[in-house]
Amino acid sequence: MSTQKNSFEGREGNWRKQKKVTHNICAVAQLGVNIMNDENKTIHEFDLELIWEYFSGIPRQGPGSPAETIKALGFIDKLTSDSQIVDLGCGTGGQTMVLAEHTSGFVRGIDLSPGFIDLFNVHAQKWGLQDRARGIVGSMDDLPFQKAELDVIWSEGAIYNIGFNRGLNEWRKYLKAGGYIAVSEASWFTKMRPAEIEQFWMDAYPEIDTIPNKVAQMQNAGYLPIATFVLPETCWTEHFFRPQVSHQKNFLEKHAGNRAAEELMANLRHEAELYRKYKEFYGYVFYIGKKIQT
Ligand SMILES: C[S@@+](CC[C@H](N)C(=O)[O-])C[C@H]1O[C@@H](n2cnc3c(N)ncnc32)[C@H](O)[C@@H]1O
Repeated sequence: MSTQKNSFEGREGNWRKQKKVTHNICAVAQLGVNIMNDENKTIHEFDLELIWEYFSGIPRQGPGSPAETIKALGFIDKLTSDSQIVDLGCGTGGQTMVLAEHTSGFVRGIDLSPGFIDLFNVHAQKWGLQDRARGIVGSMDDLPFQKAELDVIWSEGAIYNIGFNRGLNEWRKYLKAGGYIAVSEASWFTKMRPAEIEQFWMDAYPEIDTIPNKVAQMQNAGYLPIATFVLPETCWTEHFFRPQVSHQKNFLEKHAGNRAAEELMANLRHEAELYRKYKEFYGYVFYIGKKIQT
């Protein structure tokens, strides 16, 4: 769908038929590493169903936390019970439920994975939010909205699928004047980085950039930059990596002897190790902007 190395290619109808993807999803994916296996294929040629199954079993599909979702929401004013909010690349809806609980408007979550959307709608029922929160299968590069229909576009750890710059530019038309965009995005904290982590990210997501450069992209795309803040380390360690420890063990037991599952787990562990080693050089940053003209 996009020119990014780590983006999906194709449409929803093809996903269930597709056995292998050369690109990836979620963190594996965004952080999909360039380890080579002995068949000289990149390790991120995983079975898409396997990846979806793995990420369906954890509360979130990328770094973040309820507290940081609420903090970002705090920069957005004038929401009412008529407000139209969408969460693009919502996954199973961890952050979308928080959004719906802390606003009174209508929240739609959009994701390519039908399995994630099924779980999203189960979660909305569990939270008693089914009248105001709905999950829809769809792609962020082909959105079903009218021009100037939306009050808020949200996307946590998912805009990379279309690319930060492209997403900001293409999605702007769906916002009303005065509407907000709030996205979290992998960003460099320093001007210079050790070669190992620089190379890893150039392979996974070359659009990663420094915070000032991302803010400039937001301004150039026609938004007033309202706020940026760095997600705390706990968004990775407690909310993303920790729930995976027992989940990985169970997943490997279930898929004993399945080489793709073993490689997927190895990739995820490598991702966590790199974060521990290089966390002062990169992380996720929330960017909040306001569309100030039509
Ligand atoms: C890193 S996960 C983040 C999920 C969730 N926002 C979170 O923070 O837990 C990225 C999500 O983007 C979804 N995705 C990938 N490409 C997409 C596309 N073209 N349109 C909509 N969703 C997409 C994936 O299925 C996955 O759920």
